Amino acid sequence: MSRKVVCCFCKSLQAALQRPSVRQLAGRSFSKPPDIGRQTSFSGRSHTCGELTKTDIGKQVTICGWVQHQRLQQFVVLRDWHGLTQVIIPDEKKPAVPDLALESVIQVTGLVQERPDGQQNTKMPTGEIEVVLKDIQVLNECKPNLPFNIQDFHKVKEALRMEYRYLDLRNKDLQRNLRLRSEMVMKMREFLCNQNGFVDVETPTLFRQTPGGAKEFVVPSRFAGKFYTLPQSPQQFKQLLMVGGIDRYVQIARCYRDEGSKPERQPEFTQVDIEMSFVNQDNVLDLVEHMLVHCWPESKGRLSIPFPRMTYHEAMAKYGVDKPDTRFDMQICDVTDIIRESNLETFRPLLDQPSASIQAVNITGGALHFSNKDISSLQSVVQENSAEKIFKVIKVKEDGSLQSPLVKHLRADDVSRLKATLKPLSGDLILLSGGNQFEPHSVLGRLRLECASLLESKGVEVRKKADFNFLWVVDFPLFLPKEGGGVESAHHPFTAAHPDDAHLLTTHPNQVRSQHYDLVVNGSEIGGGSIRIHNADEQRFVLEKVLQEDCSELSHLLDALESGCPPHGGIALGLDRLMAVVCGTPSIRDVIAFPKSHDGKDPMSKAPAVVSQEELDVYHIQIKDT
Ligand code: AMO
Repeated sequence: MSRKVVCCFCKSLQAALQRPSVRQLAGRSFSKPPDIGRQTSFSGRSHTCGELTKTDIGKQVTICGWVQHQRLQQFVVLRDWHGLTQVIIPDEKKPAVPDLALESVIQVTGLVQERPDGQQNTKMPTGEIEVVLKDIQVLNECKPNLPFNIQDFHKVKEALRMEYRYLDLRNKDLQRNLRLRSEMVMKMREFLCNQNGFVDVETPTLFRQTPGGAKEFVVPSRFAGKFYTLPQSPQQFKQLLMVGGIDRYVQIARCYRDEGSKPERQPEFTQVDIEMSFVNQDNVLDLVEHMLVHCWPESKGRLSIPFPRMTYHEAMAKYGVDKPDTRFDMQICDVTDIIRESNLETFRPLLDQPSASIQAVNITGGALHFSNKDISSLQSVVQENSAEKIFKVIKVKEDGSLQSPLVKHLRADDVSRLKATLKPLSGDLILLSGGNQFEPHSVLGRLRLECASLLESKGVEVRKKADFNFLWVVDFPLFLPKEGGGVESAHHPFTAAHPDDAHLLTTHPNQVRSQHYDLVVNGSEIGGGSIRIHNADEQRFVLEKVLQEDCSELSHLLDALESGCPPHGGIALGLDRLMAVVCGTPSIRDVIAFPKSHDGKDPMSKAPAVVSQEELDVYHIQIKDT
């Protein structure tokens, strides 16, 4: 064994000696010799920059890090992720210490000593000691003008930070977020694979286009006119793994969706993808709750399980969205009957429609804190969102009376009923919206969140930063009306019908609820999953008859469902969104090492990039003139 190692080493040494030098390869000489061949072997470090304390006094140590600060050749502050250490340069060593550009990487060997009286910094873990420099090695000299100062990253535009992401990664917030992400993923794997029998399986990222779902990225192939796609999720593979008897699958899976990037959306993102055989909805929800408890960072408090459950209908009715932020109240109330009975002219055309509804929400402190300009900005949100545009604002005056042109036309009894429903206090603002079905709810749901942010921008505490309000949203509709007629899957076509509604599948598909569930926290949808159809006939019926899709593209899945398929279900958690909530940051870009910009590009590597026509010819692709 050892002989073999020696032989390999000799061989590679010989090969290296025979290799032409970089200069020879370049075939030219350099005016200033580049720093090639001077890299000495690295002797390592004995401690990090964050761990030396008084107990190390008198020890010789070697530390490495980035130059955070240097002062008049008197001292250098070295930084790594673990902390900062002050290095003192004694007079006799000053000639050996070069003028160091900030962010250069150096190695220092020296003796740990106690800081002189009055110079201790008890706020720093290493604040009671300093290292007296004996030897210094510059491991990598930093160029003098970096595009931004690492310590000032908060002041730097995001576009510049993304262009130099490798520098931005040195900032404390990104470091903390990525490390927390790594810790949580490790604990999830520990819980799932080590404690609960899950198998971590990788699935292909070159896939084929299949019906439904998000827009896929297309990948050219050498077969003329044929394309792979990047999977929007491993949905079909995880179901096929159940048919294959894997029983409990997990993957930290990369997914791709060609849908642009927003604060909570990236074209490539990561799911904690889970599938289980022989389970029902409760089993899946229970597993996810226990997994989250297991991986939840101690510093964020204890999670209390089971999480509350809310039906889709209740979420829409009370919060106007299927991912309610339940950290604050201000729920939507149905005032259709009150307004109908008041018989007001303005509302009559709307109320003649069978699905009309009028909803209202009481914004605590809205009248007190919002300017007229703020209220107009709320009105423009309505213009953008509502087809009907029936929208009224009612201020609650100091004496508790309601102030609005609308109220003047209401009878005293109607006003009392409005007040009894909405329970407004002085200084509140009532928003009232009318439309069909859930239209007014959606408008008020948007406004509820806008108002919360507006109030917070004025210093009112509406949502507590430390709160994590998890909940499950259940009983979604299985299908939704499609633009241009027909229906489409509310989630994906593999979702099973709710057992209580399954009999309606063939006769009234749009009345069927599904066994789909979403995990929501603080108004963010961080996961979604379902119990799947495991019967080929039912799957074929849904695809062909209800969704009017071409089944041939899914023949592999239909075949599998006829080949001994266990009942199964699963979920995918959006890891980036989960981490953004845990880290308390508004954008998932802050928890991803190398995210894409808002237009889906990588400002650092400049991807996507041009490919020559010669290379495209292999894929039978010709770029059209635009
Ligand atoms: P779904 O499409 O709901 O379900 O995705 C699951 C979760 O993934 C996250 N997510 C995203 N995160 C960042 N950027 C995006 N573009 C993005 N799109 C989705 C969300 C979402 O809740 N295969 C099914 C799951 C299943 O049925 O098991 C699926 O992908 O947090």
